Amino acid sequence: MRVDIQSAALCIGIVGTGAMGRGIAQIAAQAGIRVLMFDALHGAAASARETVTGTLDKLAEKGKISPEALAGATAKLKVVTRLEDLASACVIIEAIVENIDVKKTLFRQLEDIIGADCILATNTSSLSVTSIAAACQRPERVGGFHFFNPVPLMKIVEVIDGLLTAPWVTEALLDLGRRMGHTAVRAKDTPGFIVNHAGRGFVTEALRVLGEGVADFREVDRIMREVAGFRMGPFELLDLTGLDVSPPVMESIYNQYYQEPRYRPSPLAAQRLAGGVLGRKTGRGFYDYGKDAVTPPEASVPATLPARVWVSQTHPEWADVLREIASAAGIEVETDYLPSADALCIVTPLGGDATTACVEQGLDPRRSIAVDCLFGIQAAKSSRRTLMTTPLTTPAMRDAAHAMFAADGTAVSVVRDSAGFVAQRIVACIVNIGSDIAQQRVASAADIDRAVTLGLGYPKGPLAFGDALGARNILTVLETMQAGLGDPRYRPSPWLRRRALLGVSLLTEET
Ligand code: NAI
Repeated sequence: MRVDIQSAALCIGIVGTGAMGRGIAQIAAQAGIRVLMFDALHGAAASARETVTGTLDKLAEKGKISPEALAGATAKLKVVTRLEDLASACVIIEAIVENIDVKKTLFRQLEDIIGADCILATNTSSLSVTSIAAACQRPERVGGFHFFNPVPLMKIVEVIDGLLTAPWVTEALLDLGRRMGHTAVRAKDTPGFIVNHAGRGFVTEALRVLGEGVADFREVDRIMREVAGFRMGPFELLDLTGLDVSPPVMESIYNQYYQEPRYRPSPLAAQRLAGGVLGRKTGRGFYDYGKDAVTPPEASVPATLPARVWVSQTHPEWADVLREIASAAGIEVETDYLPSADALCIVTPLGGDATTACVEQGLDPRRSIAVDCLFGIQAAKSSRRTLMTTPLTTPAMRDAAHAMFAADGTAVSVVRDSAGFVAQRIVACIVNIGSDIAQQRVASAADIDRAVTLGLGYPKGPLAFGDALGARNILTVLETMQAGLGDPRYRPSPWLRRRALLGVSLLTEET
């Protein structure tokens, strides 16, 4: 390695002192690294330094850092007013406007100033590192160093290998990210790198669920939080990020992958952007954030239980649990091969819809209902159960099933017929995309999971999520969805298929 990242005298330059440059400067200074801050806008770097020292002061007041750490970090931050003043830096991190031509021009200018072994790192989130590097005389010293906002709290940095980046450059940036207290993951220069690529499943599939009329956005959010364990539902997330930010990212990654169906965006998001209904920032997105906004209450639990219940045996272990739930509610459970004439029929599809399950099993669709069992339906494991009607399920049978599954106090969501309910299909898409990132060798399996848990806050990385639910189950969900909907969007990644067939973890690298 030509740059001693651990050196006490390490000096880095930061060009562009907006939100990202400031955050990077803060964590670098806190790690004892000398930071030269430069911004093209007169006075911007000085005001950024004040903001950072103000943040450090507050951390010290709250006792989060010691007075010595405050003084040490503050002393490391220096404002420079000319690009030439960055000559002594060993690494320069660019966090300027997201415009490839402006970034290329800056890197070309810097090459005339910096030392032979100085690394040029770009914090770009959407541009090609390879393309920025190609503008330089020495593209091998250019790498991606992608932080997330707010930098001090989002403890992850993606280190990007451009096509021509030298290994010592990537290794130095990985070390630098770690020295700054972040988890550093390594990724190839591909659209969206790891985190923004892996994030395609959650929101785009949720929008499809909405677009198919399966459930309203509130119900989808409840299911994804309470059944699948996400901190935030996909529509809450869209409102928070802003409908002006998410659709362009969706379209950019979809197009950079030449219309790969797995990333296909939904017209519903584009329409909201066109209508200026942008989420929290405009006071209205999917949810209303106005001061008079009222949250509609959840549907009340119906009172009338079914007289008799018959449970499909397609998944015997799930059937046992469902029978216990019915018995505990005091409902007669039929054990004959076929249901009696007035029993509520319960089916348990995996990736399929309620209609297909009924037709295949010769059941009456008017008194049939499907239950999502993949996420655990025992009351101790689940705070919400998802039921799904066929297009013909009668309101009386639907309500009776709702009453039965809510009898032990568990919340119930009732959705319309859908291949893969809500959580099954959204999580299967997340696992599939994560698997394909591994298949494309964008990053190691472990780094994919690390990046997604830290960068997106998912309860598990996509590969560990698949393992927890069973890679075979996820494969079945995807294959059944692909067959049922005829959409190549759901075709399983070879990474997932092979590991599911071999019965090994999705985190298994090739030997
Ligand atoms: P920002 O707009 O807040 O700040 C950019 C700063 O760069 C401004 O102070 C501007 O005066 C300065 N600048 C513009 N052109 C310059 C030039 N040629 N030379 C020197 N300074 C110049 O932008 P922000 O949000 O801090 O983002 C910066 C970079 O980080 C972008 O490439 C962005 O894609 C990337 N990024 C942003 C994230 C975010 O959430 N804001 C997340 C991850 C990456």
